Amino acid sequence: MAEKILVTARSFRATPGRHLDILREAGYEIVPSPLDRPLEAPEIAPLLADVVGAILGLDHVTAESLAGATRLKVLSRYGVGVDKVDLEAATARGVVVTVTPGANSLAVAELTLALMLAVARRIPYHDAIVRAGNWSRLAGVELMGGTLGLIGLGRIGQEVARRAAAFGMNITFYDPFPPPPDVLASLGASPRSLEQLLAESDVVSLHLPLSDGTRQLINRQTLAWMKPSALLINTARGEIVDENALYEALSSGRLGGAGCDVFSREPFTGSPLLTLDTFVAAPHIGSNTVQTTLRMGLMASENALAVLRGERPGPVANPEVYGSGG
Ligand code: DGY
Repeated sequence: MAEKILVTARSFRATPGRHLDILREAGYEIVPSPLDRPLEAPEIAPLLADVVGAILGLDHVTAESLAGATRLKVLSRYGVGVDKVDLEAATARGVVVTVTPGANSLAVAELTLALMLAVARRIPYHDAIVRAGNWSRLAGVELMGGTLGLIGLGRIGQEVARRAAAFGMNITFYDPFPPPPDVLASLGASPRSLEQLLAESDVVSLHLPLSDGTRQLINRQTLAWMKPSALLINTARGEIVDENALYEALSSGRLGGAGCDVFSREPFTGSPLLTLDTFVAAPHIGSNTVQTTLRMGLMASENALAVLRGERPGPVANPEVYGSGG
């Protein structure tokens, strides 16, 4: 009987391509998730019990989810964030966790620019006006000449910087682990402290992973450092922003606007943020383009197959699983 690989990531399953073919050609049976949304820890546990690998979307994998996963060798994230996977528990069970760095950078960067423009020109608000048969306008702001503050200047932040520079923005960044000087010079990006960046920027965009150190980095205090006209864009992780504080800042006019693709709870329903015209939301679509699905899918499948062949793939999120030499 063929060994099985669970696939939870919806766009991976739904898009035909090499990423699916190579799993089948290698002799694996693909087991689709029964649900079209990220699975909670107790939901994924019985599914992991029966498979040697999983291509994971944004599912929650805890020590309990892995408790019965005796045959599991690899959790291949279809994406870069591993904040929903208990890496220590995976390591303790000898399960390799892989990621797909770089595969979604362009898609997330383009969505970031789309959100900037949507918030700056109030596109959803104006779209609703026209659909309702009305014809009124709110003045927007231009990006040209404004300062973009990037919190996080990794692969995605750098792609955003390149595109924003083409719009004539001045690029600044805050990142405790900045890229090398030649990359900074080519981007024309200047370093700032977090407080300076928030105080000076016309647009602040988040491109950092979720960790204990970045959880609610954007909170009542740090929002108060921003200009009242400034825009905040979040395509990273919802938990980096205190959504209550964001609502207070937007609804009281202490912040100009915000665009978010990610939320502390997804699906994001019932929040007062969704009543504000200055707030633009998307349902975590950063990576969800035709091109990225294929690129990221192929990388996720290749990573999983490499582990199952006994090889070590490049992008491993828990290198400790390979022992002290890891
Ligand atoms: C990521 O890469 O983690 C994105 O959020 C999509 O899963």
